[in-house]
Formats: sequence, structure tokens, C-alpha cells
Amino acid sequence: MRGISAFGAGAALWLCAATAGMTAPSLTVLCGVDEAWCAVMQKAYEAKTGLEIAMTRRSTGDILNQIRAEKAAPTVDVWWGGTGDTHLQAGSENLLEPYQPAHERDMLPWAQNFFAMSGGRSAGIYAGALGFAYNADLLRAAKLPAPTCWKDLTDIAYRGRIQSGNPNSSGTAFTTLATLVQLFGEEEAFRYLAALNRNIERYTSSGSAPVKAAARGEVLIGISFMHDAVTQKEAGSPLVIVAPCEGTGYEIGAVSIVKGARHVEEAKRFVDFALSPEGQATGAAAGQNQVPSNAMAGLPLAAPDISLIKMVDYDFATFGSPEERSRLLERFDAVVSATN
Ligand code: F6P
Repeated sequence: MRGISAFGAGAALWLCAATAGMTAPSLTVLCGVDEAWCAVMQKAYEAKTGLEIAMTRRSTGDILNQIRAEKAAPTVDVWWGGTGDTHLQAGSENLLEPYQPAHERDMLPWAQNFFAMSGGRSAGIYAGALGFAYNADLLRAAKLPAPTCWKDLTDIAYRGRIQSGNPNSSGTAFTTLATLVQLFGEEEAFRYLAALNRNIERYTSSGSAPVKAAARGEVLIGISFMHDAVTQKEAGSPLVIVAPCEGTGYEIGAVSIVKGARHVEEAKRFVDFALSPEGQATGAAAGQNQVPSNAMAGLPLAAPDISLIKMVDYDFATFGSPEERSRLLERFDAVVSATN
């Protein structure tokens, strides 16, 4: 009886869906970029192909955890966006499907290197430098000095006035952690993080949330990618964007096909679109300011000129390894709980 009634309920649901004109999505995409870009990309891709996609925005570490958890029965076809070292971590755990995208030859050298480093499992779609931004109105009102370096952020004057992402969920914040280790050496980086922790008002799960909060005047300083701060500034907020004086790190945002994806052919088509000049133009159309990886794609007008920023020689191989990720995250959690 139970079997029959369960079948009856399922069939009824299917009939309702069919009569309402609903179709199952042809592709499931986890989107690691800003919600605004996810929406524009979904619309552009659906209009171009006539395929329906299910797209959900999640932070990079959360996407990695979901793909790990679903390894035996993946529900996701494509992981589009989010910091590349986390895609590399997934690649080393055999969670990604190799694919040679149609546009790989048109990619800028940093994206070609990234593709080679991933063993052909992940392609670079954009780049962007890390930094921080402060709200100039709040700074002036509180008569505080303007921070220009990473080390300034540990000043007691900023107690409870800084937001940063949580590196367990946020790829931005994992990039911050890896950047500080590369800039200062691991021991000093963790001493720095302990000092910074005293000034942190909140660790957010998404990496762009800190500069969005600073833009709204909810917090003085946000640590995020500079392109996310540019987007807020372009929208009229009183943010001053800082490339820290000691130097900074950067991300290569990536796209990957999940191993065991149920819609592999459609997933390949999506990756090709994501790397095409047309697909990459959806970023600027959504008000985003990363540097596109395709040499034929236009640069968003307000994108920070990353060639002018003092940058660490970011070691994607080391910080893209799952062992290094878990070790650094454990150490981060220990430092944060010990200094709270
Ligand atoms: O908002 C866009 C963006 O900064 C991307 O450039 C980046 O790859 C992604 O968000 C990281 O998001 P999160 O830190 O939430 O994982």
C-alpha cells in the first residue's frame, strides 16, 4: 500500500509539473562570484542556448565542502567562479573532470599556467588583487588615521572596527591567510592574525561581505578583493580602496566540471561560454571588476590595474594543496579561539 501511494504521489507531482510547463534544469551550476553576476550569467547562457540552468551562489569553501560530501552521487555539474586555489584543492582530491576548453589558446599567460597547474581540470576565468577598503565618512567622523598597510590594521584605534571573511567558507579569506603567510612567513603571519583578531568585529561567511558592510557604513574597514570594493565605490559609496604597502596576494577565479556530473556535454558547453569573450563580458554587464582571462575580452572600465599593485609571487601549487589548506585552517581556528 505504502509503495502504491508513494508512486501515486510522485506521479501526481510529475503531472502537475508537466502541466505547469516546468522542465528539469539541463545543468546545475554552483556560482562562486557575486550574486549580481550569477544572475546575469544565467540569463545570458539560457538566452544563448535555450537550456535551463539551476544556479546557486555559495562561498568557495562551502562549494568545496558540498562537492566533497556529494562525491559518491554528485548533484552539481559545474563549479563556476570562486578562488582558484580551492579549485586546485578539489582537483588534487580527484573531484573534478578534466576538460580542454575551446578558448584555452586565447587565454592570458597566467590563465594558461593555471590550467596547466590544474592538470587540465580547471580553467582560469578572471584575476583580482586582495586589499582592504575603509569608509571615509566614518574615518573622518571618528578622527582616526587612514590605514595604508596590513600592519596598520592591528592598531588599537581600529578595535571592533574591521570585518574579514572566515577562511573556512570564504575563498577571499583563504587567499588573505595564504597571502599573509607568503608576505611575512608563517610564524609572523599567525602572530599578526592573533593581533588582528582583537580588532575584528565579525568574520563573515562570504568574502565580499566586509567591503559591502563598510560601503553601507556598518563597519569602518573591510578586507576583501579590491574589485569588490571598486563595485561598491562605483555604486556611490564613500570607500577608499587600499593596496597594502607591504604588498598583497591575488586570486585566479576558476571554472571546473565536477567529476561524475550528470550533464557532462552541457557542462562543457557552459565552460566554453564562460571562457568566451561574450561569456566574460557578463561580468562587466553585472557591474563586476575582475580582470577577464580571455585576451579577446574587454577589461571592465573601473577594474583595478593589477600591474601597478605590489604583488607576492603567489604560490598556487602550495596553497592549492588540500593538506596545506586543512593545516592552515586548523591553525587559524586555534589562533582565533585563543585570542577571543
Ligand atoms: O565577489 C566576487 C568574488 O570576490 C570573486 O572574485 C571571488 O572569486 C569570490 O567572490 C570569492 O568569494 P568567497 O570569498 O565568498 O568565497
